[in-house]
Amino acid sequence: MERVLSSQAAEYLGKKIKVAGWVHSKRSHGKIIFIDLRDRAGLLQLVFDNSDQKIYSAVKKIKPEWVIGVSGEVRKRPKGTENPKIASGKVELKAESLEIFSQAKTLPFPIESDGYEISEEKRLKYRYIDLRRERMKRNLIIRQKVIHFAREFLIKRDFVEIETPLLTKSTPEGARDFVVPSRLHPGKFYALPQSPQQFKQMLQVAGFERYFQVARAVRDEDPRADRQVEHTQLDIEMAFVGQKEVMEIVEQLYINLVKELFPEKRITKVPFPRISYQESMKKYGTDRPDIRNNKKDNNELGFCFITDFPMFEWHQEEKRWGAMHHPFTKPQTEDINEIKTHPEKILAFQYDLVLNGAEIGGGSERITNLKVLEAVFEVLGHKIEEIHRNFHNYFTAFQYGVPPHAGIAQGIDRFLMVILGEKSIREVIAFPKTGDGRDLMMDAPSEITKQQLEELHIKISLPKKQKK
Ligand code: AMO
Repeated sequence: MERVLSSQAAEYLGKKIKVAGWVHSKRSHGKIIFIDLRDRAGLLQLVFDNSDQKIYSAVKKIKPEWVIGVSGEVRKRPKGTENPKIASGKVELKAESLEIFSQAKTLPFPIESDGYEISEEKRLKYRYIDLRRERMKRNLIIRQKVIHFAREFLIKRDFVEIETPLLTKSTPEGARDFVVPSRLHPGKFYALPQSPQQFKQMLQVAGFERYFQVARAVRDEDPRADRQVEHTQLDIEMAFVGQKEVMEIVEQLYINLVKELFPEKRITKVPFPRISYQESMKKYGTDRPDIRNNKKDNNELGFCFITDFPMFEWHQEEKRWGAMHHPFTKPQTEDINEIKTHPEKILAFQYDLVLNGAEIGGGSERITNLKVLEAVFEVLGHKIEEIHRNFHNYFTAFQYGVPPHAGIAQGIDRFLMVILGEKSIREVIAFPKTGDGRDLMMDAPSEITKQQLEELHIKISLPKKQKK
């Protein structure tokens, strides 16, 4: 007999089926024992009586979260005992056989609630249990639907999905790099990508014209509610377009996605307002304004684009200029002298996508004039030889025919956090890290063996207070 899901049980009224799953709850009423069986589709009520003593005594011992398989006949529930809250609520399974696949210890925390009341440390340590919770299942399934929708939307519009490497070289995206030592090249390191920025630009030189990727980006920065050391970007790059076209395609993507997947939600304003950085700072005092009419309305989505950011920002502690977005962003002037002498005045073709006050995307037109690229790096404090050494791929590739290009990366985790009304992106990621960047389930980061260190020619020198 093939296994049937709980949600399909009603289609088999009067027939024999086999189901399998976890014991969600159990109630004994004397000679009759009820079990709510949970599978990936929901719940199904199983009824055991004492007509078969062997099964009956085995069922008596069953505890919540044991994994079992049961076969029997689907029958209508007696009048007045239907449960309209579950898909199989009109029927139940009169159990005739029982198979116990595994037993389970008492869970470290309940899974019936939404889980917010449980300590996060515990939830992350036992994430596989936490993910049994209805809310977490729903979040991950919606996440998949959003990604699937975006993929189809872009593929239909001629975008090509291309994977780019995880082991690569440091990209100046503004955070610290996570580095990976190379065994074959002792003393040398790869860096995990802070974004696929350089690769997607190289793909424009390669002639793909329309690239996208659901890409993992890794940044060594202190995690926060809206920030993880790894996050997922819906990364886009296009050739022969400027910021207008990039913003339009992103706008269309979200309008359609909301219509299809979140029909109960309403977008504050379409087209999404384009607000200059200066105007936003003046009017809202922030570059990520919440433009909703009613901020208490869970179903309102206030999208807007912030444009015309300053190219550079002054880092007071380090007494140097940094790039507001990244150094590949095109300034609104090609006047090299002006860029070098008055960096504070230079605006960039940079745009952020903001939703209900959260930055859910950022992008820019890119520099293709190498003199401008040099000037930008110089303002950022790099020496000419260093620029050519570190970014030689740009200086070489752009000599072989580079189209004008622009792109954007959208923070998928952040978008989901906002649209699902969650307070932290950890609620929309299957296996997130703690506030201090640890994976409690895997126990990472962790030490590696002496042999591994030797192979990599690495010696550890811990600061005194950390020494064991
Ligand atoms: P940026 O650095 O602005 O741009 O990142 C794009 C979007 O990714 C999200 N994001 C994050 N989400 C969770 N945790 C983080 N640590 C984190 N960092 C960023 C934000 C942000 O808007 N390569 C450029 C894009 C481009 O120019 O095309 C880039 O990565 O929602």
